[in-house]
Amino acid sequence: MTDYPFATEVITEVDLKSRVVELGQAISNDYLDRSPLFVVVLTGSVLFAADLVRNVAADSEVDFLGLNRYGEGGRIGIAMDLAAPVFDRNVIIVEDIGDTGLTLKVLRRMMTDRGAASVSTAARFDKTRRRVTDVPIEYRGFEVGDEFLVGYGLDWQGVYRNLRSIWAVMDIEAFVRDPKVLSKQLHSG
Ligand code: XMP
Ligand code: MG
Repeated sequence: MTDYPFATEVITEVDLKSRVVELGQAISNDYLDRSPLFVVVLTGSVLFAADLVRNVAADSEVDFLGLNRYGEGGRIGIAMDLAAPVFDRNVIIVEDIGDTGLTLKVLRRMMTDRGAASVSTAARFDKTRRRVTDVPIEYRGFEVGDEFLVGYGLDWQGVYRNLRSIWAVMDIEAFVRDPKVLSKQLHSG
C-alpha cells in the first residue's frame, strides 16, 4: 500500500479480484437453477457488475437502473428504469457501496412491489457502521470504514471511477478545492 497526502490506497487490485471470485462462487451455488436477473445500479456498480457476472456460472441476465437523489434527505427517484420486467424473476441488486442502507431498502421494496420472485443484494463495499436502517446484504465484498472512497467505480465529482484499486480520501478539503488532486498526485510519480 502506498501513502499519499490526499488519499491512501486501502484495497488493492489483487484483493478486489480475489474477493469477486468468491462472491461469484457463492452466487453460483445459490442460483444454479434460478437464472438471476442482475439489477445493476448506475453508475458506480458497473465495474463490479462486469467482474461479478463473469464469475457466476448460472445463466443470468443483466439490466441497469439509474437513480436520482434529491436533497440532503436523499429522496430517491428513478432516472432511468429497467428494460426488463421484474415480475417472477430472481433479482440480485448490484450496488457499489452500502452506506446508510436507505437506497438498498428502497430498491428492495421496488423489486418486491414489481412482483419479483426473490430479491437479494450484492454490494462491493459496506460501510456497516453508518447504517441507519436494517437491510440485508447477502453478498458483501468488503466491510469498510467511514472514509469516503474512490476508485473501481466510485467517484469524486465524477472522477476516479477508472482507478484499479480503492482509495480512502484523507484530506476532504483538498478534494473540495481541487477534485483532480489525487490524479495529480498519482501522476507526479
Ligand atoms: P445509502 O446511504 O442510501 O447510499 O446506503 C448509498 C450510496 O451512497 C454513495 N456512497 C459513496 N459513493 N464513495 C462514493 O463514491 C463513497 O465512499 C460512498 N459512500 C456512499 C453511493 O452512491 C451509494 O450507492
Ligand atoms: Mg458517486
